Amino acid sequence: IFPMSQQSDQSTWLVTKYDDVKELLKQPSFIKDQKKLFQTAANQAKSDDVNIFENMMLDVDPPDHTRLRKLVQPFFNPKTIKQLEPRIVEIADQLLAQMEQKSSPVDLIDDYAFPLPIIVISELLGVPSEDRDRFRKWSNTIIAASNEFETDFIEDVEAFTSYLTSLFEERKQHPQDDLITKLLQAEEEGEQLSKDELYSMVVLLIIAGHETTVNLIANTMYALFQHPDQLKKLKDDPSLVEPAIEEGLRYYSPVDFSTARWAQEDMAFHGQTIRRGDLVLASISSANRDEDKFENPSQLDITRSRNAHIAFGYGIHFCLGAPLARLEGKIALERLLSTFPQIHLSENNPEWRTVFLLRGLEHLQIQ
Ligand code: HEM
Repeated sequence: IFPMSQQSDQSTWLVTKYDDVKELLKQPSFIKDQKKLFQTAANQAKSDDVNIFENMMLDVDPPDHTRLRKLVQPFFNPKTIKQLEPRIVEIADQLLAQMEQKSSPVDLIDDYAFPLPIIVISELLGVPSEDRDRFRKWSNTIIAASNEFETDFIEDVEAFTSYLTSLFEERKQHPQDDLITKLLQAEEEGEQLSKDELYSMVVLLIIAGHETTVNLIANTMYALFQHPDQLKKLKDDPSLVEPAIEEGLRYYSPVDFSTARWAQEDMAFHGQTIRRGDLVLASISSANRDEDKFENPSQLDITRSRNAHIAFGYGIHFCLGAPLARLEGKIALERLLSTFPQIHLSENNPEWRTVFLLRGLEHLQIQ
């Protein structure tokens, strides 16, 4: 564990070793809801306006977290998700057919890795996937926001909020067999979900569905292009696709850092003194390349045994969407490599995006 910044009133820490990261993520004394530590009049005041970030499942602790997670968990269980397989294959094949029509090179991100998970999560939630350009802009602004008072940020959050208000109204009039209808019903029953929680749950799922699996697909393909022997192994034996996805998750972890945790009390943690209110972050990428846990951690090996990476986090906030992301990643690679067996990179040094928390490429040009 390293100090990232130390000030008299609050320090920020970064945890980098595999075992320590797991310990941090499962310790209840590192909490998610900072407001509990600093009960000021400002953060106790309740406004009537909807706040699309208030009480987001990822930012709260039990018992609120337990209640919120229970509500959405059934939609993301591996068994439920498996039923989406034929539809995901269909979406992948449609996107690949469109790519075939284009003159090469094409951008694997814009044309494939990005739209595929968006269409899937949009259908699952019940948001029109034609609106995906707007979601992309809003979710990019939210992810990139360094200052929540920036004009762009305020405008995009307002636009996102009023978009959801109209969508919820429409869906109340015309219920469908989708997750938004189920959440609206839970909100109407009152006890299970507040208005803020309804908005922030949908926003969380849209952002998570937009910003992560795209990186899983593109990062894994990039890693394979950088290791032609591993790419050949996978082409020769397509049954290796699942371990290849797991190794892609470990090698270029799409979520670089955990979200924020706060120390609830003064404590000792691996030789350091952490004080109440300190911010503690985990480096998931570093943990996934820890030489004390993984043999030759900086080598891509799609046949790696015991690949216990923590790319989806650990503990009670373990990624809700992991079964979906794994299935999308598997189908995306399978369909891509069987449709374009000769696929190769057409640029050597694609640029990484410079957003905090996420590891993903701007573009990945292929031929
Ligand atoms: C939580 C990674 C895809 C929904 C997390 C966390 C990680 C993660 C590391 C925990 C963060 C923390 O504890 O600070 C990933 C990766 C993905 C992915 C690497 C793709 C490869 C998805 C998808 C969805 C999703 C597709 C939804 C459709 C969520 C939600 C949480 C979460 C709702 C919060 C869970 C909770 O607080 O209980 N994810 N995620 N994720 N993820 Fe994912």
